[in-house]
Formats: sequence, C-alpha cells, structure tokens
Amino acid sequence: MIRSVIAGVGSALPKRIMTNDDLSKIVDTSDEWIRERTGIKARHIADDSETTRTLGLAAAQKALVHAGCAASDVDLIILATSTPDNTFPATATLIQADLGITTGFAFDMQAVCSGFVFALATADAMIKTGQAKCALIIGSETFSRILDWTDRATCVLFGDGAGAFVLKAQEGDAGILASKLCSDGRHANKLYVDGGPSTTKTVGHLRMEGREVFKHAVVNMASVMNAVLHDANVPVLDVDWFVPHQANKRILEATAKKLGVAEDRFVITLDSHGNTSAASVPLAFDVAVQDGRIKRGQTILMEAMGGGFTWGAILARY
Ligand code: UT7
Repeated sequence: MIRSVIAGVGSALPKRIMTNDDLSKIVDTSDEWIRERTGIKARHIADDSETTRTLGLAAAQKALVHAGCAASDVDLIILATSTPDNTFPATATLIQADLGITTGFAFDMQAVCSGFVFALATADAMIKTGQAKCALIIGSETFSRILDWTDRATCVLFGDGAGAFVLKAQEGDAGILASKLCSDGRHANKLYVDGGPSTTKTVGHLRMEGREVFKHAVVNMASVMNAVLHDANVPVLDVDWFVPHQANKRILEATAKKLGVAEDRFVITLDSHGNTSAASVPLAFDVAVQDGRIKRGQTILMEAMGGGFTWGAILARY
C-alpha cells in the first residue's frame, strides 16, 4: 500500500524574542498571569523583513535538506496560513517560485490553527490517489500582524513562526495511518478576525472569547484523537508522542487527563513559541526530532483546533 511518509521536517523562527516582561510594558499584564494561565514565557515576533513567505521558505528548505530531497522533486506545495503575504496570489506559489520549482502545483489552505493538520490530510489524500509523489507541507504564520496590541486578552497569546514536512509516496508500514477533520461554523464568532477584503476591505484584528474556545478545545481535541485511534485500531498507550497544537498548557493538561495518558508524552513548545497557529504542530514536531525525542519508527499523534471552529487529528508512524 502506498503511504505518505514524513521524509523530513524543518522549522524557522523570527530573530526577535518578546518575553512576558516585554509585554507587560505594552499592556496591563504580568509574567505571572501569562505563565500561570497559559504556560507561555516568550514568543518570537517577525520584523518587517520577515514574512509568512520568508519564514515558510526557510522552514521548507530545512525540511528538504532533512529529507535529502531536491526542490525539483517536489510536485505539490500546500501552505497552511491565515496570514498570507497578500490576499492573493497564494503565498505557496511565491514559495514555489523562491524554490525554483516550475512544475507541479501549489496552493494555500485556511483552517486557522488547524491548518497544518488539514493540509497534511489533504496532501495524504493526493498522494494516495496518485496526484502527487513528493509534497511540501508548510505551516507559516505572522499572527503578530493581525493582533490588537491594546487587547491584553489576546496579544499575549500568539507568536510568529513556521514549520514544514516533506511527505513522500512510499510502500510500507511507515507514514500517515489515519486522519480525521472536523468543523462547525456555528462557532465562527468565538474566534475570528474582524476584517476582510469582501467586508471591511481591511485585514482586521483577531478577536476571541477565550473561555468558550478553551471549553470546546478540550472536548474536541480529546474526541478527535480518540476517533483517529479507533479508525487506525491503535490503542492510546501505543502512541509514543502526542504533538498537539500549542495554545494553552492547561488545555493540554486537561486533554492528557481526558485521554488517560501522562502529560510528559505531550511535546510542549508553547513556553518559548506561544501560539503560532498553523505553524505550531510542525514547529513542535521539528523541535522534538532535533532534540532526539521523536525517533524513526515511533507512533505520533498530531492534533489541532482553531477558528471556525475547525479541528482534526493525524496518526502517523514516523
Ligand atoms: O489557537 C486557537 C485556540 N485558542 C485557544 O485555545 C485559547 C483558549 N483560551 C485560553 O487559553 C484562555 O481562555 C485564556 C488564556 C485566553 C484566558 O484564560 P482564562 O483563565 O480563561 O481567563 P479569563 O478570560 O477568564 O480572564 C480572567 C481574568 C479577567 O479579569 P476579571 O474579569 O476576572 O477581573 C481578565 O480580564 O484575567 C484577566 N485577563 C488578564 N489579566 C492579566 C485577561 N487577559 C489578561 C492578561 N493579563 N493578559
């Protein structure tokens, strides 16, 4: 059976680090509040020269090197982002051009914080149906550009960054084993941006009912992970690492408890990255590959939840 194998991973972060203390000089907040309520200590913030395109490109280049692939091998690029460089063309096509690729196809995917999981499932389907053989899946975000820097309830939560996977069509037991995607647009007003080209003709700012999102996140994440494990017939205790969307440490603790697994099996990077939306899962995955936690042959469960609401999970053998 042809599977989508994770052949390489990479990530990139802006140079500038903003600590909680830095934020307390801008809005009425404190390091103590942010750490206790979220687990976040610092985040990276893009400067004017760093964009979704440049961060995505840097992550993609590292993933290609890690996979031992040439850019010319790539026949599909999907970029998950809610913060594209321009409304159009798709930032994925800009990265395609930056990589010197003139064949295959590239497009952006928008499922907010679940974007990378949606993109991975889409690429997997395309690989399994023979439409692609080597896919570059990127999550890249510059949420700092759409934050209301006077709103302490949201601006302390997010950061910028990018992560990327190279997926290759390969026979065997490794690769993506199962995926499940969900959305429920009745909750659109709980996490959204108050602008857009067709309405305000502006980019808008992020707005969130934090408590409501929190409540749904724990329930949705646990249920979608259980669904994927059920579909793949894999017991939860066989999962070596959980690589979740990085929004709030308390959400991850509650999710681990609901699943009945130890928290230390969750890869957590939100302390130093904050919530990087569609970049958070591949960024965390890359950190755990680089530091030796995630090893070849292990079973990994990725999951995310974001605006829409959208949520989903992917089970893979790395
Ligand atoms: O990536 C998409 C998914 N996003 C998420 O999963 C986010 C989910 N939500 C959350 O992570 C949490 O709800 C937050 C971290 C956003 C907020 O934590 P909370 O424990 O739900 O706090 P809260 O909104 O209930 O606010 C508690 C208090 C309020 O003050 P009062 O009304 O009790 O006087 C807020 O005004 O904390 C206040 N507050 C702050 N205080 C200091 C809100 N933000 C801050 C702040 N610094 N930055």
